[in-house]
Amino acid sequence: MTNNRTFTMLKPDAVEKGNIGSILEKITASGFRIVAMKLTQLTVADAQSFYAIHKNRPFFPDLVTYMTRGPIVAAILEKDNAVEDFRTLIGATNPSEAAEGTIRNMFADSISENAVHGSDSDENAKIEGSFHFSEREMF
Ligand code: CMP
Repeated sequence: MTNNRTFTMLKPDAVEKGNIGSILEKITASGFRIVAMKLTQLTVADAQSFYAIHKNRPFFPDLVTYMTRGPIVAAILEKDNAVEDFRTLIGATNPSEAAEGTIRNMFADSISENAVHGSDSDENAKIEGSFHFSEREMF
């Protein structure tokens, strides 16, 4: 992956509420190109590994339960300044603090069930994208 790419997941709450189409529309209307995408479901081992950085946080068990309870949409997105611009588009982790018009402001209910993930650095975008996709699944 190059530095103009980021990785996202539309989380189980977003999928359950039927918001895949609305969120993807907002993402593409904001200038992101979809490079890779799949509907999939994390195993407990997947979620524990993906969120290993949070393993000592009190919310970790609930985070793993939440992220494995149903399907997610995983995607790699391309745009100049992708990581930073996507984090601006999704808004603050806590939707009550997310700016008006951001994805979490519009579609998330709580800090724990916050609808979307966005990588926090170019390095993590590469690691997270490769966690879900092989090179031949990236366009
Ligand atoms: P995200 O930033 O995508 O990745 C880590 C996730 O942990 C975060 O989204 C939330 O889903 C969850 N999370 C972060 N902070 C808290 C918190 N204080 N309480 C509960 N869940 C949290």
